[in-house]
Formats: sequence, C-alpha cells, structure tokens
Amino acid sequence: MTSTIDTPKKVIILYDSMAVGGSADRLIDAIGRNLAQAGAYVEKARCKPNADYSFVEEFDLVILGAPIYYLLVASKLSGSLSQSNLRTVLKGKKVALFVICGSPEPMAQFLYLPQLKMHLDNPVILAEKVFAPAETSDQNAITEFTKNILDAYGKAR
Ligand SMILES: Cc1cc2nc3c(=O)[nH]c(=O)nc-3n(C[C@H](O)[C@H](O)[C@H](O)COP(=O)(O)O)c2cc1C
Repeated sequence: MTSTIDTPKKVIILYDSMAVGGSADRLIDAIGRNLAQAGAYVEKARCKPNADYSFVEEFDLVILGAPIYYLLVASKLSGSLSQSNLRTVLKGKKVALFVICGSPEPMAQFLYLPQLKMHLDNPVILAEKVFAPAETSDQNAITEFTKNILDAYGKAR
C-alpha cells in the first residue's frame, strides 16, 4: 500500500525587513527554496499595513516572519496584523512563524514571538522559530525549520 504525504501546494511568506538583501531576505529565499524542492509553489510578499490580504485565502500555508528592531517585530508585518484584514484572513489557516533577532532565544520566546501571536485569531500554528542572525545562512537550521513545518502540515487537520 502506498502512503501519500500531505504537502502544501501553495505557500506564501509574508515578511518585513528594513534591509534589502539582509538576513530576512536571505532566510526567506532559503525557506522558499526548501519548500519548492518539496513540491510547493512559493511566493513571498513584503507586508504593507494598508494592503488588502484577501489574496492570501488561496494559499495552503502562510509563513509570517520578520527581524526585531528596537524590541519590536518589524513594523509593516505587525502593522499588517493589527490594521489590515490579514488577521481575519488567517483565521483557521495553517501558519508558521519566525523572528530573527540578536537576543538570546529565551528572551525572544518571551518578548518577540508573542508580538506575532497576540494578533492572530485561531490559526493552526505548525511551527515557530527564533533565528539568530548567523542562522539565516545555516542550511541545517533552515532545513530543520522547513521539515518541522512540513511534518506538522501533514498531521494537521
Ligand atoms: C537598528 C537595529 C535594531 C535592532 N534591535 C534589536 C532588538 O531590539 N532586539 C534584538 O534581539 N535584535 C535587534 N536587532 C538585530 C536584528 O534583529 C538582526 O540583526 C536581524 O538579523 C536584522 O535583519 P535584517 O538584516 O533583515 O534587517 C537590531 C538590528 C538593527 C539593525
């Protein structure tokens, strides 16, 4: 008997960063490559707080992530979650979260990831990860994150 592993067909990575070609861009491109290799169609979009996020409905999996600047999640991602229809669109959706920051992981778990979660309304959170800046070039760390996402996607209802 053959078993079929459920993988997302369409994935979107929603993010913000002050830097072009910085660690967030590097990480997102690497996550996207890994998911594409697993068979997904992947798009990325830099957030705008006043955007209409209805287009996100068509994606099977949404990855949300951004660096931390001055103790806060980059403002266009957090602003999109608090000011646009993104929160509503993500209700019941399968999502994965990450932040990139220089702070130690326990501090980031306590201070930074909750800044994303507080704006979410009952999504299915498949995985969450704090990346240190150096880990945004660490293929092992990125592969582990994408594997965790795909494993949880296969199990989620
Ligand atoms: C202006 C600035 C402020 C930052 N503030 C924080 C902070 O408050 N806490 C933290 O953990 N990391 C902080 N960082 C570290 C960044 O989150 C980290 O360098 C990240 O990789 C930057 O991503 P980027 O290259 O996409 O901009 C800061 C970095 C910059 C440039």
